[in-house]
Amino acid sequence: MSQVFHDIEKKIIASLKDNPKQTPEILEKNTKLSPDQIRRGIEWLKLKDLAIVDESQTSMISLDKNGIESFQKGLPERRLLNLLNDGPRKLSDLQKELGPIFGPAIGLSRKNNWVDTSSDQILLKNFPSELPGEKTLKQIGNNKLPQEKIDKNDLLELLKRPDFIIEHVIKTKEISLTDSAKSIKLSESSGEIDVEAKVPQVFVARTHPLKDTIDEIREIFVTLGFFEIIGNMTQSSFWNFDALFTPQDHPARELQDTFYLSGISAKKIATPEQIRKVSESHKKNWHYHWDINEARKMVLRTHTTCVTIKHLAENKPDEARVFSLGRVFRNEKVSYKHLVEFNQIEGVVVGKDANLRNLMGIQREFYKRIGITKIKFWPTFFPYTEPSLQTMVYNERLKKWVELFGMGIFRPEVTKPLGITKPVLAWGGGIERIAMLKYGLDDVREFYNNNLSWLRSVRKCQ
Ligand code: PHE
Repeated sequence: MSQVFHDIEKKIIASLKDNPKQTPEILEKNTKLSPDQIRRGIEWLKLKDLAIVDESQTSMISLDKNGIESFQKGLPERRLLNLLNDGPRKLSDLQKELGPIFGPAIGLSRKNNWVDTSSDQILLKNFPSELPGEKTLKQIGNNKLPQEKIDKNDLLELLKRPDFIIEHVIKTKEISLTDSAKSIKLSESSGEIDVEAKVPQVFVARTHPLKDTIDEIREIFVTLGFFEIIGNMTQSSFWNFDALFTPQDHPARELQDTFYLSGISAKKIATPEQIRKVSESHKKNWHYHWDINEARKMVLRTHTTCVTIKHLAENKPDEARVFSLGRVFRNEKVSYKHLVEFNQIEGVVVGKDANLRNLMGIQREFYKRIGITKIKFWPTFFPYTEPSLQTMVYNERLKKWVELFGMGIFRPEVTKPLGITKPVLAWGGGIERIAMLKYGLDDVREFYNNNLSWLRSVRKCQ
């Protein structure tokens, strides 16, 4: 897994790869980072187990004021012995000449048996060529030395004496990389902005993919010069079925296909003339007893064609390009390709010269705009259109043809009773089907699963 490093960390790691052990001060010089940046960088790397900090103490030794004086002029006892080198001297003389150091000088010399003080004249006896402490005094001189470089016992001689030795305790930190840090590969552009660096993923609010498809379809219709019409989701059976020349014993009207609003009947379903003419059309052509109570039953609309026919019956246009879009409901078993409620898009063109060729041309144009080019038309049946077709589109991924829109030219049995005189081209179909093709889904339920990982994975530009 690649890790994200701060620029400071990168610089420290890179420097430690060149020089495996460095104090913070040396790191500062090598990386040109500030002491504070070095301190923070080391802390971060330590927390990630990438850096080791070895802390150690060293004691440094230098001479204090009496030590320096002795370094320059000799130890008090050495100066005493020097004076006696030329012959015995009187105690009072020596005292005068040596001043305050006489006391310690004579004391030490007598204790070590270097002098004979039994008479008035002080005599030199045997003494070592190098006196205790002298080696250390010379070694240190004006410098500062690590304690371990100095002979312990010899140093002790000087440590006993006041103001001879100063001990400095120095704490040192040495930074090195752990094994896992050594294998880190840093990007070439260390010190520059790493545009490929991983950043935390942020999920912003966005529209649902299905809503995107709905918006896209609406946009296409508007661009093609269509006007949107809106209808109710609940409709009387009259507009959902009867006005569309669907006989009252048609299987689509049965309970297992359609959701009825239980116990609700529409009082005023249409104008008396519309009711009369529609019922006459049913009686004359289907030869059965048409029942107005059946037409009053309220349903959740099973298609958007009820919105179309109601609009046409109310407006009787000689020319029109309208569309409607919205939820429809079918009492079907839910499966990978069926939902009980889904969205439909429905388009209508009215015009004196409107014909099947126009209808197919509009379909091709619509599909092209939505990104589908491999289509074919297939004859089918709807009670309200003649001829009736359906578009089949080729799903490259599944390698099969799937049916999309149903369409046709409204039958005179539909248009005439409602006073519509010009040919009506109509088509419609499920939006989820189109969205499935666009998003490469095999199961229509995915649109309603609220599966965040899928929703987040969907690309906005398909
Ligand atoms: N209403 C039909 C359906 O729901 C589609 C259609 C609309 C067919 C208009 C012909 C004309 O499948």
